[in-house]
Amino acid sequence: MNQVTELPAPTPAPRAALSPALRSALAAAGEDRIFYDLAGIARRYTALRSELPGVAVRFAMKACPVDEVLVHLAALGAGFDAASPHEIAQALRTGVPADRVHYGNTVKSDRGIAEAYRLGIRDFATDSLPDVAAIAEHAPGARVFCRLATSGEGALWGLSRKFGCSAADAVRVLTAARDAGLTPAGLSVHVGSQQLTAGAWTAAFELLGGVLVELDRHGVRLDHVNLGGGLPALGYADRHGTALDPPLDEIFRAVRQGVDRLRRLHGGALDFVLEPGRHLVADQGAIRTHVYRLTSREQPDGEREHWLYLGCGKFNGLYEMDQVQYRLVFPTHPAAECVPAVVAGPTCDSDDTFPHGAATGLVQVPRAVASGDPVWILSSGAYAVSYLTQGFNGFDPLPYTVLTDGVTDGFADEFADGIADGTAQSAEPVARQNRICLGEALVNGEES
Ligand SMILES: Cc1ncc(COP(=O)(O)O)c(C=O)c1O
Repeated sequence: MNQVTELPAPTPAPRAALSPALRSALAAAGEDRIFYDLAGIARRYTALRSELPGVAVRFAMKACPVDEVLVHLAALGAGFDAASPHEIAQALRTGVPADRVHYGNTVKSDRGIAEAYRLGIRDFATDSLPDVAAIAEHAPGARVFCRLATSGEGALWGLSRKFGCSAADAVRVLTAARDAGLTPAGLSVHVGSQQLTAGAWTAAFELLGGVLVELDRHGVRLDHVNLGGGLPALGYADRHGTALDPPLDEIFRAVRQGVDRLRRLHGGALDFVLEPGRHLVADQGAIRTHVYRLTSREQPDGEREHWLYLGCGKFNGLYEMDQVQYRLVFPTHPAAECVPAVVAGPTCDSDDTFPHGAATGLVQVPRAVASGDPVWILSSGAYAVSYLTQGFNGFDPLPYTVLTDGVTDGFADEFADGIADGTAQSAEPVARQNRICLGEALVNGEES
């Protein structure tokens, strides 16, 4: 039988620090819960705007469809990338004008297009002739932007093939839009989520430039380019447990250069839009969960493995745990003797496990942890509340709290103004808990 061996020292700490607001909320929490640091999200937003001046931000709502977050981003000047009528309705409830919201999903039904149009949306993503025909019928006169396919190489989630079309198709799609009485307004790309290379951005700008020139030849003059999402979080580790170190400065440089180049190529006024999701919220969210059990079991191949089972996993907050490892903190076991363990969630499902394989993907876990000990899961704010399952194996969706420490006093007014349709509940001064996320209650303007 093999003995469990100690792993080498943990890999270098990722570049995302735990904010004081998150730290104290995690420390005070008695139950499992995800916390968002609103001031931290605002700081990321402001930093992004100063790195990419002149590029408008439309937050990709699916990364964090939490009202308080959306209202605050809207108050800072952001718009929204929405992917369904429900998301559009939620975006509009922040008080943001409809022209700062677009229907960014190329996958739409006739009914969805008509509903978005009824709600005042005039900008629609597209990538095919049937979709253009449907937009012309159900959103007459609307503006469309055509999504170009990218390879997704260099990203953790490539997003390739389901969306986007070739350069030649984009010319067909946008000229057909013009002929159908729509305004061919823009082009878009998405370089893949958690894109880790600057080269992917440079390649995307090359592609965009070629199509802009070709469209010009066809007499189609666009007014904007939508650069999609893909900007990385800074606090993840990869599947092997090595801290990811995205070259953010290089990425920003590539984007700035690309924007300049496209503006020169175009020769007229060309606006730019970015749709960040995880970059704004991932490192600003953290989960407080607890230990179910640390076990040591001999596997059929004779290997003895430690497994750490937590209260939170793939189906209640960590949907992306099959691609990335999150940094764990065991606050009641500082400087403890550790064992390398596979980390898994609480359900009776083997998918509910951090990535692991022969001697990789193991996490250093204090040998003495006991059932009930708190565990903090860092950089877990993106795609957390949006990917919660409903009662999988009887586990409730993870509740959330939005921390407003350090957010200006005006926040309460912004919130009251933004959700003026009766959906807002009275809020506690420091943290707003578990307010409405998505769904019928919001769309109908009822309290949840
Ligand atoms: C159209 C679109 N824009 C933006 C995003 C946000 O991507 P990210 O979280 O990588 O920034 C997504 C996410 O899948 C998307 O589908």
